Amino acid sequence: MQNVAQVMDFNSIEEQPALKKRGRIQIDNVSLVFGTGKQANIAVQETSLDIEPGEFVCILGPSGCGKSTLLNSVAGYVTPTTGEVLVDGEPVVEPGPDRGMVFQQYSLLPWKTTFDNIALGPSLCGDVEATRTAEYFLDMVGLTKYRNHYPAELSGGMQQRVGIARALATNPSVLLMDEPFGALDAQTRLVMQESLLEVWSEFGTTVLFVTHDVDESVFLADRIIVMSASPGKVVAEFDNPLPRPRSPDMSTRKDYIEIKQKCLEVIRSESLRAFELQNA
Ligand SMILES: Nc1ncnc2c1ncn2[C@@H]1O[C@H](COP(=O)(O)OP(=O)(O)O)[C@@H](O)[C@H]1O
Ligand SMILES: [Mg+2]
Repeated sequence: MQNVAQVMDFNSIEEQPALKKRGRIQIDNVSLVFGTGKQANIAVQETSLDIEPGEFVCILGPSGCGKSTLLNSVAGYVTPTTGEVLVDGEPVVEPGPDRGMVFQQYSLLPWKTTFDNIALGPSLCGDVEATRTAEYFLDMVGLTKYRNHYPAELSGGMQQRVGIARALATNPSVLLMDEPFGALDAQTRLVMQESLLEVWSEFGTTVLFVTHDVDESVFLADRIIVMSASPGKVVAEFDNPLPRPRSPDMSTRKDYIEIKQKCLEVIRSESLRAFELQNA
């Protein structure tokens, strides 16, 4: 199997410091308000985050707290009401191939094969080696045998692996993932989390991963950002001390349990606060 540097026509990743340094996300005082006047809904309030190139950051929070909205502002699907988002110093104004997106719904093109779903992005971006690129990522997610299958012939986990390969195939500097494993059963989800970490350690891209699942955030992240609702904002941030490589048996470790407890405490006290506000 070739490595990324060979596919991207470099002699080695080390010779390409620019590749390693790509993927800084700066969210600068971003607010996102839907509607106006009495109907105004502050989905995200005055949020600032600085994410290092290559970092794996999870945004953790309950349903409706603005996680997808914040992620969509980095993707360029929504424009902040105030503040701005920069990726590698460039203001985000629209979606682009430098930001790969993986959604909870698999969102593959049903009339295209696994291979063609992955090759489409590179072709559209003018990658003259689109076939070779698609083959590399097909191999990376372990689906070479399924290259000619259509999405309907694949399990949910396989479809999501195609989604990840497709997102990476345009050589993005950041990978944005919105509850990508939320629709999978618990066993498949664990396998997918491990396989995502393998792909990430090989590809080295920045990952911004949204989830409402505390265990998922502790298993995956370097850093966990906790959001709370009404209005959606960051209420806590934890560096994850859990060493890498990660494995499922780490869930009984003292440091795993400690950081999980910290996240749960914040979420619980925020839920109580929201409950009191609703009943005030
Ligand atoms: N396109 C939209 N128009 C109006 N309100 C929206 C839109 N998208 C999200 N919202 C509202 O913004 C808030 C945050 O939603 P969302 O970002 O989807 O939360 P999460 O992903 O954390 O579940 C919710 O109150 C939701 O109803
Ligand atoms: Mg969401």
